[in-house]
Amino acid sequence: MRVERTIPRHVAIIMDGNGRWAKRQGLPRTFGHAKGMERVEDCVKWTKEFEIPYLTLYAFSTENWQRPKEEIENLMHLLDEFLERKVPELKENNVRLRFVGDLSPFDENRRERIREGEERTRDCSSLQLNIALNYGGRQEMLHVIKEIGKRLMNGKIDLEEVNSDTVNEYLYTSGIPDPDLIIRTAGEMRLSNFLLWQSAYSELYVTPVLWPEFEKKDYESALKEYSKRERRFGRI
Ligand code: IPE
Ligand code: IPE
Ligand code: MG
Repeated sequence: MRVERTIPRHVAIIMDGNGRWAKRQGLPRTFGHAKGMERVEDCVKWTKEFEIPYLTLYAFSTENWQRPKEEIENLMHLLDEFLERKVPELKENNVRLRFVGDLSPFDENRRERIREGEERTRDCSSLQLNIALNYGGRQEMLHVIKEIGKRLMNGKIDLEEVNSDTVNEYLYTSGIPDPDLIIRTAGEMRLSNFLLWQSAYSELYVTPVLWPEFEKKDYESALKEYSKRERRFGRI
């Protein structure tokens, strides 16, 4: 019997459990985030090895602003470090970087570095790494509704023309295929405002493993489980 190897085209990961990991070690939450950053690097490497062309990582949600100021500052510091140190490595490894989310609350300097990271890796083609930053699925939908509303009011489009493609065009993820597989670490059975429109037919995989401890074998287990799923998309 021939066994089909079904590899997802797009994997999206809700990287959760940094705080719990740190707590278990008796360390401050910031240590969990630092450790989590190391896993990000590994995960990019493994995704390339698995020949998956799109990886989206949920790094900071619109709700995460409700965390203590020090924790937010720590996360932003890690982001700056990533932009500074990792972009050349991504380029070397032929990985294209893209950010999805509302970047408007960030200062001009950070936005410029984000744009630079995207620009410098624009022609890379082995993997597209999308970082969901200040991302919220509901906020994204509101953004889409407003953009379409503007065009309706200016007479640029007709109401009858509005369809799923129009929505896709204005999503933060425009041009990126919907995720085939969404992995969530640290056991929580929820999407937490992640890719609400795009996940309509995504396969969900939740592992109790905390993000700082997520290993290649855990990724492989998720892919193995995915390959066994029957995706029906509403058909029989
Ligand atoms: C995920 O880990 C990282 C971010 C949300 C930025 P958490 O910080 O949510 O870790 P837990 O859920 O408290 O363990
Ligand atoms: C989801 O994790 C957001 C990210 C991984 C960036 P959270 O820890 O913020 O989600 P909840 O609070 O458990 O729903
Ligand atoms: Mg969490």
